[in-house]
Amino acid sequence: MKKSNKYYTVTAALPYANGPIHIGHLSGVYFPADIFVRYLRRNEKNVIFICGSDEHGVPIAIQAKKEKKKPQEIVNKYHKMIKDCFIDFGIIFDNYSRTSSKIHYRISTSFFKKLHVKKKIFEKISNQYYDEKAKQFLADRYISGTCPNCQVLEAYGDQCENCGTSLNPEDLINPKSTLSGCIPILKKTKHWYFPLDKYQKFLEKWILTDHKKDWKINVYGQVKSWLDQGLQPRAITRDLNWGIPIPYSLMKERGKVLYVWFEAPIGYISSTIEWAKQKKVDWKLYWKYKKTKLIQFIGKDNIVFHCIIFPAILKAHNSGYILPDKVLANEFLHLENKKISTSKNWAVWGHEYLKDFPNQQDSLRYILIANMPEKKDNNFNWKDFQRRNNTELVSIFGNFVNRSLTLVKKYNNGIVPNPGIFSTREKKILDKIKNYPQYIGDLIESYKFKESLSCFMSLAKLGNKYLTEEEPWKKKEKKRVDTIIYISLQIVGMLAQLAEPFLPYTSEKLLNILRLKTVFWNQIKEKTLCPGHLLGDSKFLFEKITNESIEKQFKKLKKIQN
Ligand code: MF3
Ligand code: ZN
Repeated sequence: MKKSNKYYTVTAALPYANGPIHIGHLSGVYFPADIFVRYLRRNEKNVIFICGSDEHGVPIAIQAKKEKKKPQEIVNKYHKMIKDCFIDFGIIFDNYSRTSSKIHYRISTSFFKKLHVKKKIFEKISNQYYDEKAKQFLADRYISGTCPNCQVLEAYGDQCENCGTSLNPEDLINPKSTLSGCIPILKKTKHWYFPLDKYQKFLEKWILTDHKKDWKINVYGQVKSWLDQGLQPRAITRDLNWGIPIPYSLMKERGKVLYVWFEAPIGYISSTIEWAKQKKVDWKLYWKYKKTKLIQFIGKDNIVFHCIIFPAILKAHNSGYILPDKVLANEFLHLENKKISTSKNWAVWGHEYLKDFPNQQDSLRYILIANMPEKKDNNFNWKDFQRRNNTELVSIFGNFVNRSLTLVKKYNNGIVPNPGIFSTREKKILDKIKNYPQYIGDLIESYKFKESLSCFMSLAKLGNKYLTEEEPWKKKEKKRVDTIIYISLQIVGMLAQLAEPFLPYTSEKLLNILRLKTVFWNQIKEKTLCPGHLLGDSKFLFEKITNESIEKQFKKLKKIQN
C-alpha cells in the first residue's frame, strides 16, 4: 500500500515530563490531533504523527525539588506514564521520543552551532535576578510576582497563568524567588540572544498576509498582537543546571544550557529523524520537501513559540525547512467550572480515569471531543459525562447496534438477509447515508472536530429512529423484516467504519462483530454488508456509567477542595 505523493507531518505539543496527562491535554491537543491523523491514514496519505516528552526547563527542575528526586528520575517516571497513557487512549504516534535522548542533544546542539556560525545569534551581558540564598539565577518559573497586566499575585517570570500574558522577569511587580522566597538581587550574566526583531517583516508577510484567511482566529489574533507590539531579541540560553549544555567551544562558563523553548520544538525534528532511521526512510521528505504539509496541534499558551519564535529560527537556519501550514490551538477545558490546575491537583488524570473506568477509553474520548473547547473555554463535569455516555453512547449508538444484531440473529441466524423492495423512506436513507463519509471527512479536514463527531452521531440517531419506527418485530411478512434488518445493518456497517477516528476501540470491536475489515475512507459505501455474510457474536459496545462511580469521582474532588 503506497500511497499518494502527499506528505503530512503532524505534530502534537511535546508534553512536559513533570506530571501525568489530564483531560485538558487530551481534549485540547491530543484527541483532535489523533482524529486528524487517523483520518489522513484512512485516506492513504503519507502521514507521520510525531511527539515526545519535553524533559528540560524549569518546570522539571521544580518538580524534582518537590519530589526530592533528581530531574532525570522525574523525567524517566513521567515519560513512561505519559507514553503509556497515550497508548491506552488509542493515541498512536509514529514516534514518541524524548528530549533527553542522544539524538535530540545532537540535533539541537548542531542547530545552535549553525546559527552561531552563520552569525544569526549574538552574545550579550545583562542584569538578571539572582537568588543569593539558592545561589541561582531566576529565570522563568523560578521567579514570581504581581502581574503587571491583571495584578494577580503569583504570576511567573515567563507567563501569568491567570491572564495568559507572556512576561519577562523584569516585568513582575515585587518579584520574589520561588526557590527560597527571597527578594532577588540583580547580577550580571552573559547569554546568547536571537534577534527576533529582524524577522518581524518576514513573519508579518508569512502570517498576516499569507495566512490571514486560513488560520484559526484565536491563533491568528495572538500572533497579530505580538507582531503589533513589535518583536524584541530573546535570550535562547539560561543559567540552569538542567538542560542541554551550550557547546563548550561557544561558552566557557559552566551551568549554562539551551533555553527549553529553543530546543524543545527542535524535538519534533529529532523525533522524526529517530523514526526515519528505524524505518530507513528519508526524514527530509517530512521537513524539507516543499509540498509536505506541517500541521501542529498545540495548547494556546504555546502559540507564540510555534508561530513566531520557532518559524523565525527555522528561517534563520536557512536550510530549507518547511514552515507550518497550520497551527491549531484550542481554548481551555475546565473541570466542574474551575480552572484545571496541576499544582492544585484539580484535574482528571488520564491514568486514574483508566483505573476507575477500565475499557471505557472511548467514553472519555467521546465526551472530550464533544466538549472540545474549539472556540471558547468549555467545561467537563462528571454528571454530563454520565448523561452523555448513558443517553448517547449507550441508548442511541449502542442500543441501535445491539437491536440490529439481535434481530438478525433471531430472524436470520446472524446472516445478512436478502432485502425485498425498498420503500421510499429506505431509498432516501440509502441515498442520504451515502454522503456521510464525505460530510464527516470534510469537517475533519476543516478541523471542526466537534461538528464531525455530532455528524457521526446523527447517523446513529437516524438508524435508531428508523428501527424504532419500523418495528420489524411486529411485522408479519418475512421479506419486510429482512429488508428492515438489511437497511439497519448497512447503517451499523457504516458506523463501524466511520467511528474509527473518534472511537477507535469501539470501531474495532464492532468491525470484529461484523467480521469486516477497515477500508479506506473513500471506499466506505452505503452497502457495506452483503446478503449471505455471516456475522460474528454480538457484544455490548458501551457500558452504563453508574451513579456510584460518579459519586466516587465527586468524593475525590471534594477531598482535593478541602
Ligand atoms: N512542554 C510544553 C508544554 O507542555 C510544550 C512544548 S511544545 C514544543 O506547554 F514545541 F516545545 F515542543
Ligand atoms: Zn496576569
